[in-house]
Parts: sequence; C-alpha cells; structure tokens
Amino acid sequence: MLGRKSVNALNHLEIGQCDVVALAEQFGTPLYVFDEEEIVGAMREYREAFAQHYPSFHVAYAGKAFLCGAMCRLVAQEGLWLDVVSGGEYFVARGSGFPWNRLIFHGNNKTDEERALALREGVGRWVVDGFEELECLLEESKQYVHGKLPVLLRVTPGVDPHTHAYITTGRVESKFGFPLVEGIAEKAFLLAASSPYLDVRGVHCHIGSQIRTLDPFLKAVDILLEFMDALRRNHGLLLEELDLGGGLGVPYLDGEKGDFPSIRSYVEALTGKVREKCLSLSYPLPVLFVEPGRSIVNTAGSTVYRVGFVKEIPGVKKYVAVNGGMTDNPRPVLYGARYQALLGNRVEGGEKETVAIVGKCCESGDVLIPEIELPRVKRGDILVVEGTGAYNYSMASNYNLIPRPGVVFVRNGTARLVVRPESLSDLLRKDVIPEEGAG
Ligand SMILES: Cc1ncc(COP(=O)(O)O)c(C=O)c1O
Repeated sequence: MLGRKSVNALNHLEIGQCDVVALAEQFGTPLYVFDEEEIVGAMREYREAFAQHYPSFHVAYAGKAFLCGAMCRLVAQEGLWLDVVSGGEYFVARGSGFPWNRLIFHGNNKTDEERALALREGVGRWVVDGFEELECLLEESKQYVHGKLPVLLRVTPGVDPHTHAYITTGRVESKFGFPLVEGIAEKAFLLAASSPYLDVRGVHCHIGSQIRTLDPFLKAVDILLEFMDALRRNHGLLLEELDLGGGLGVPYLDGEKGDFPSIRSYVEALTGKVREKCLSLSYPLPVLFVEPGRSIVNTAGSTVYRVGFVKEIPGVKKYVAVNGGMTDNPRPVLYGARYQALLGNRVEGGEKETVAIVGKCCESGDVLIPEIELPRVKRGDILVVEGTGAYNYSMASNYNLIPRPGVVFVRNGTARLVVRPESLSDLLRKDVIPEEGAG
C-alpha cells in the first residue's frame, strides 16, 4: 500500500480516515481522492529541510502536476510559490486568490494573450524560454505594471536524467530553454541584461521528471554554477538566483519504495552541492528555488472506480473493466507507466486471482494495469488505483465523451468536494448546435 491508507473493521480501504466505499456512494465514481494531510506533509518536508540546510530558498509547487482552486489555497497557506505554465493555470491561481508575486510563469510558447495577462497582473518570476520570447519581452516589459520585470532564463545544461524520453527536458536538443553550448545561453543573458526594463535574477533549469537518483541533479548544479561564474567573470553579471526545477521521482509500486531518495535527502544533497560548489568558485550563495510537483501530490492521490463487466478469455486472460481508464489516467498509454491497485470494499483475504485492469475507452491500449493479483473481483466492486495524484486529473480528457471525474480532499475522517464531477450536460455546454434545418 502506498501512503497513509488503512483498512477498517469492514475490510474497506480508508484514506484520510474516510471509507472509500462511502466516498464512492456519496460522490460517485470514478473519483480522485486526495489525502490533504499527505500533501501538506510533503510541502512542509520540503520547506523544513531547506530551512535546516540553506539560508535563502523558495519552494514552488508545480501546478501542472495537479491544480484546482482548493490546491492553490493549500499552496498559498503553506507559504509555497506556485509554478504555472499557461494562461489557464495562471487564471485559476489568480481566480482562487493566489498572490501574483509568488507565481513563476513558465512556458515555451506563451501566447500574446498569456503574456499580456501576466504583464497586466504581475508575476513573481517570469521564466524566459527562447530568443523570440526575449525579443518580445524587451518591448513588452515596458508596460509591466510592477516596475522592472523579474526574469529567470531557462537553460538546458545537457544532463541526461535517465528517465522516460517524454519527460526528459534538460538535454541540448530539448524544445525548452537556451542551450549552454556555443555561447547561446550566454548571448541570451547579455541581451536580457541590456534591457532597462528587465531585472535578470538568475538561471532556471528543469532536467526532467520521475528521476530516481540524485546524481543528475548534482551534475546540473555543477554546470549551472560554472555558467553563472563565467557570466560573472567574463561580463561582470552577477546572478543571484538559481532555480533547479522539479523532477524528484516517487515510487508507484510497493516494490519500488526503497528506490527513490526522500525529499529530505534530495534537499540535503542539493543544498550541500550548491554550498560546496559556491565555495570552490568563491561565488555568493544564490537564492535557491525548486519546483516539485509529483513528489508533493502523487502518493496522496488515488482513483476510486466501480468495476463493471468482467470478461474471461479461457486460458488466456481475465479482464476487469472499470468505469474510467485512459481518460482519467493517460499515463500508462503515454509512458507505459505502472500502477498498483486494491479492492476498496474487500481489501484483505479471500481467494486471489490474476487479472488485467482495463478502462472503457475504444482503444486496445486502454489498459491501466496489465497484470495484478487481487481478491476475486466482481461487478459492483470498488477498485482503487494508488499513486494517481500527479499528472492524472491534470492530463484527463473527454475522449469518447466520457465526463471527467470529480476531486475530493479527505482529512481526519472528513471529505470535501473540491472539483465537482463533470455531468453529461457539461459535455454539451460548449457546443454550438445549428438550428434544425440550418445544416
Ligand atoms: C519547469 C518545470 N518545473 C517543474 C516541473 C515538475 O516536475 P515534477 O512533477 O517531476 O516534480 C516540471 C514538470 O514537467 C517542469 O516542466
């Protein structure tokens, strides 16, 4: 079992001391359930570890992992910053009262409208991703409402984080950032620093996601601080901030629990490396930023499904179909991601069988778990897939016009709906239907 779940006297699974069978009845299925204390616990672990090891830092939660108004509130309450990557995320953050000056605004293709919105309302840091964006900003930042626009420039340090190719972002060929090679990033910094309207604060990098070892992060620190030092020595440009992005991996299976560094050891290693490198370069300690997403929300989240039809192909396979699938969790199809599950209404005991958990979409690839041993499953059972907090709700779609599930936060035996489930009528809400006969 992942996280802090338990089993009650009815042999039902509990999350945040709420019985998942009762949650399924109250809120319907599929349903994303988040243990609020677990989210808050991870946020505090980051902040406390930094506070113990480093003088000046900011932890920015990466909203792309999972974002809604209630999550923005939690992030704000816990004193974190928030990384947003689109006008939509920016709008949701501001609409739920998140302070503009703690927003980090990302994106490799910020549209005219998105740039105008952020310049009109404000950002804590703007992460510049390429030359064309920088050219636009040299002009547009004159209009920035809060004085000089505080920017970080994203660079690709050329580090391979040994994770899935789709979530590798720090290599030279990446679509993100300025490559450090051939003086490209250097040229970008000099151009930005020449503007009277930009306040060039520092360097940003994000090398990838679901990273299992600390080594790639430490390599990135080495490379980035050497780059910052070269800017100082060669051009007198002293950058005061270093943003190392997110990327710390988490276990998705019980068997992987020992394979990932803890938040604490990640922070210790990172801050230790920054101190050591700064000392060797005589570079003043920069303000450090990190942008964790997955390691804050993934384990806290589970998806609660109702089992529908069970189909056995004798001697071949038994399929257990749930009332969701790749629409609420595209990661198995996208990355071959692996998950584990439990029967929420009969967690322990009984005869076991090996089954495949599939969704209801019209794709043969719509397989949530290709092989898992569970107590004998039947229609009407409650199936809980664990570790779905990150990149599930935020990546969900309406494929096959399946409504997206709602989200519930649970804590100390109390559940609160934070995103209502989509209804069938929501599916027609945006349609413009021609009058009959008008074609
Ligand atoms: C710029 C940036 N920061 C932070 C993150 C969060 O990464 P993770 O969820 O792996 O911590 C991402 C994820 O893609 C990202 O692109």
